[in-house]
Amino acid sequence: MIEIEKSKQLNDLIFKYKSENKTIGFVPTMGALHKGHLSLISESKLKCDITVVSIFVNPTQFNDKSDLDKYPRTLENDLSLLNKLDCDIVFVPSTKEMYPKEDSREFDFGFLETVMEGANRPGHFNGVAQIVSKLFDIVMPDYAFFGKKDFQQVAVINSLVKINKYAIKIIACPIKREESGLAMSSRNERLNKTDRNKAAFINKTINKSVELSKNLSVSQVNEFVANEFDKTAKKLKYIKESMSLIKIKKLN
Ligand code: PAF
Repeated sequence: MIEIEKSKQLNDLIFKYKSENKTIGFVPTMGALHKGHLSLISESKLKCDITVVSIFVNPTQFNDKSDLDKYPRTLENDLSLLNKLDCDIVFVPSTKEMYPKEDSREFDFGFLETVMEGANRPGHFNGVAQIVSKLFDIVMPDYAFFGKKDFQQVAVINSLVKINKYAIKIIACPIKREESGLAMSSRNERLNKTDRNKAAFINKTINKSVELSKNLSVSQVNEFVANEFDKTAKKLKYIKESMSLIKIKKLN
């Protein structure tokens, strides 16, 4: 596995592979790799000649400084996992390398910015688009792999591909779950055992509500979820919107 810190070095190597007609698969990550990431890398290795993984905790997508500070960083372990998977290239740039000067670009994702993560984390998707577009420009992949866990992010990336007219095929891969049903996520590292057990309740309730939504109205399902969560959680975010969206399939 080749480890690269500089954009120019990576870009030169990509040009060389392209001149040899090799297909490039790209998996952008913020590290703290788990089985969800590894499944994206395996998918890329199946489909493409060369697989590039980036590890960069992108400051511009954090609207909460303490969330950025607490984001898990496990570089040594990540590199050893990538080596085992026989990943071809890992790109580990510094913040200065990715943002030599402030990025003032503003993307317009319309409706997507007004719901769920868009509404609750102002600037988050703009930051995601800033870094992903920079990475796409350097890696110039044929395919880029994202997890469906970040469903709204996948919609934003598809929109970015259209806005910037990238010739990149976005592959959305299935969610990987813990045995308890909890979706795998780097941020789970921050949960203690009790909270991890509690978090599994989210998936159970979503599954039940999807089943109920076949026969009940959106407001009835919302009421069911609110009652279930009242037992365990202090506040509910997103559920009303996501239930409505599931019903009207607006994000599909
Ligand atoms: O999904 C993530 O880990 C990040 O949002 C991404 C796509 C790597 C951009 O920083």
